[in-house]
Amino acid sequence: MDIRMISFQPHGDARGQLVAVEEGKELPFSVKRVYYLYDTVSGVTRGYHAHKKLQQILICVHGSCTIRLDNGTEQALVRLDRPTEGLYVANTMWREMSDFSPDAVLLVLASELYDENDYIRNYDEFLRYVKERA
Ligand code: TYD
Repeated sequence: MDIRMISFQPHGDARGQLVAVEEGKELPFSVKRVYYLYDTVSGVTRGYHAHKKLQQILICVHGSCTIRLDNGTEQALVRLDRPTEGLYVANTMWREMSDFSPDAVLLVLASELYDENDYIRNYDEFLRYVKERA
């Protein structure tokens, strides 16, 4: 499966590190929403859904976590463990997030506002949706 990682340039100096993410440069879409997951309980897996329209970039800005992606045909596991690396998640992609380290902060840049109607929360429905689009 084609996994698209986006590298962010750290602007480090003697004081520490800084990463800037700008529309039209590092990002393939305009960001309408930002959210982040933290204090994720050990052993928990989240997500279990796909989106019809929403695109996202996932950045584990602190700690680490694993993202499982499934396009209906192929699956991939991606470990996110650095603040200079983003995982692009296209629409129509089933995702599960797991193996969060206790200090993990997963930042999500999203192309759309929150819309429950954009979610596909049933895996069989997701497979049907992917087939219909093909
Ligand atoms: P949920 O969709 O269960 O998270 P995930 O699927 O990533 O594990 O979201 C948890 C709660 O947060 C749920 O009540 C919906 C709410 N929420 C918002 O209000 N706005 C948002 O942008 C997101 C992502 C979730």
